[in-house]
Amino acid sequence: ETKIFTVDKDVPLLESYPQIKEAAKLIIDNEVIAFPTETVYGLGANAQSDEAVKKIYEAKGRPSDNPLIVHIASFEQVDYIVQSVPDYAKVLMETFWPGPLTLILPKKGQLSKYVTAGLNTVAVRMPNHPLALALIKEANVPVAAPSANLSGKPSPTKAQHVYNDLKDKIAGIVNGGATGVGLESTVLDCTTDIPTVLRPGGITREQLEDVIGKVNVDVMLETDDQAPKSPGMKYTHYAPDAPLTIVNGGRDFLQSLADRYKNEGKRVGVLTTKENAQFYNVDKIIVCGERSKLQTVANELYDVLRQFDDEQIDVILSESFPNEGIGQAIMNRLLKASGHHVVSE
Ligand code: TXA
Ligand code: MG
Repeated sequence: ETKIFTVDKDVPLLESYPQIKEAAKLIIDNEVIAFPTETVYGLGANAQSDEAVKKIYEAKGRPSDNPLIVHIASFEQVDYIVQSVPDYAKVLMETFWPGPLTLILPKKGQLSKYVTAGLNTVAVRMPNHPLALALIKEANVPVAAPSANLSGKPSPTKAQHVYNDLKDKIAGIVNGGATGVGLESTVLDCTTDIPTVLRPGGITREQLEDVIGKVNVDVMLETDDQAPKSPGMKYTHYAPDAPLTIVNGGRDFLQSLADRYKNEGKRVGVLTTKENAQFYNVDKIIVCGERSKLQTVANELYDVLRQFDDEQIDVILSESFPNEGIGQAIMNRLLKASGHHVVSE
């Protein structure tokens, strides 16, 4: 049975301390628990224990060749798990940690081999969430944590999403309310002189370049036919039950596609924004934030993708978003959710 720890992240930590302590005890006992971060909920376990880390893969149904991010709560923990840190990566840590930036660095031998899936690098991040930080500090071990969804489903931004996917498969859930950013951290490969974005996320390429100069973006993010460097890139992700198509064009074009499906007797859902919602005539319209504030789209995207699963919908048509700033991460997730199915005007 899954134990629920309900904690208000906005009350002083002292009050929730007994709950955090009990949750941390589960980590120390090599159990798996879900906890909130500023991006999405993570599914955490002691990164030094084979037994504990194996349970993460089992609970999620995650392929064992897809490595996990190690979450830390202090800068001292970096040296414990990483061999060396290039100067630019030190600057990034100082600037963006705690925060939604994951750095790939050469690993030391302290971690379970299952965390890194046999690679000689490790993904490290310090989450910017008071409950995540308190939990890691209290457990006093590095915490391996992928997103706390079943493999293939959208990442969880609410404790309820975790519960729906993983109840009775994990020892506990720390319910700290909705997460902030709504999309996962940016994954940056720091094993070369110029770093490379492997997964766009909460910190944009523009933000990174403002601090350290040139940053590359993995070719995988622009084309489809390259061998993935980040093992997570090759799997189906975030997919709602009904097939999703990204529509690259205006409202009239999207409506004409919807009409075509309707004529085939299909029930059509549309993923849109506050600005455009009133203009469609379809079976189900779900509003995902405001186009003029792209962060709100990021924030609501995974919840919206999950909402479509509660509707009797045969096809989902999604508007597309500008591929800049946080829009890069939004489009990356939408492309994956659609299996790269885009229709252009
Ligand atoms: O925001 C986040 O990053 C969330 C929260 C819970 O921290 N975590 C998360 O973990 O999204 P996950 O496992 O869903 O995604 C980790 C990504 C995967 O694409 C994985 O392949 C990549 O990081 N990754 C992990 N270790 C790597 C490594 N050594 N080299 C390259 N990519 C790696
Ligand atoms: Mg994930």
